[in-house]
Amino acid sequence: MAADAEVMRAPGLPLLAEGEVRVAPSILSADFGALGTEIARVASVTDWLHVDVMDGHFVPNMTIGPPVVASIRRYTEMFFDCHLMITDPGDYLEAFRQAGANSCSVHVEVGDTGTLCAEMRRLGLGVGLVVNPETPYEAAEPYLHLVDLLLIMTVHPGFGSQSFIADVVPKLVAARAQAEREHLHLTLQVDGGIDEHTAVVAARAGARCLVAGSAVFHSPDPAETVRRIRASASTAISPGR
Ligand code: DX5
Ligand code: ZN
Repeated sequence: MAADAEVMRAPGLPLLAEGEVRVAPSILSADFGALGTEIARVASVTDWLHVDVMDGHFVPNMTIGPPVVASIRRYTEMFFDCHLMITDPGDYLEAFRQAGANSCSVHVEVGDTGTLCAEMRRLGLGVGLVVNPETPYEAAEPYLHLVDLLLIMTVHPGFGSQSFIADVVPKLVAARAQAEREHLHLTLQVDGGIDEHTAVVAARAGARCLVAGSAVFHSPDPAETVRRIRASASTAISPGR
């Protein structure tokens, strides 16, 4: 039982019941000048925050690093899921842990996946692995038993407000099948272009943690939007509800 059991061990983070989904607002679309306030807008409706870290090298954009994670940690006890879109994640894992990250996710495309997973585990971080849209599922397959969270990118990483790429949905189906076959309890996550409609597609394919940036933070009522995304996904996978 590597998986959920490890990621969910963060204090105060409840396990998901069968048929439940978690929405993880991505602060990439929040107002970076008022992050504490922005986080407070969603903290009452979800326990998970997605933190996008970009280095201007692995992706053509730059965002934040450990100092900002440490700053926002003072405002909330939410689970910080740090999505590291960086070329050398191994150099920064300890800094993210110290800053207050609960889990880190590294891209399979940067290589050294086994070593990076072992290092995240050693540091007590939830272990996440990310697969870009153009990367075949087979790149992640050998590492599934090492991870708590598998993030299937549903846009090309680097920017918010892009459209959901439906072509990647078979990767979710493949991951779910492998997890069942190998009795792994990993969390399947999607990131990019998630709204009330695409959440249904992702959840039906097996995703249980839905990252949503612009849909949440560009809406007039972020908390209500989180509720709506979660409700539409939950209803889609639990028809009786
Ligand atoms: C993209 C980031 C996403 C981004 C998603 O590289 O990894 O987390 O915030 O934004 P939306 O939900 O607007 O597609
Ligand atoms: Zn992300």
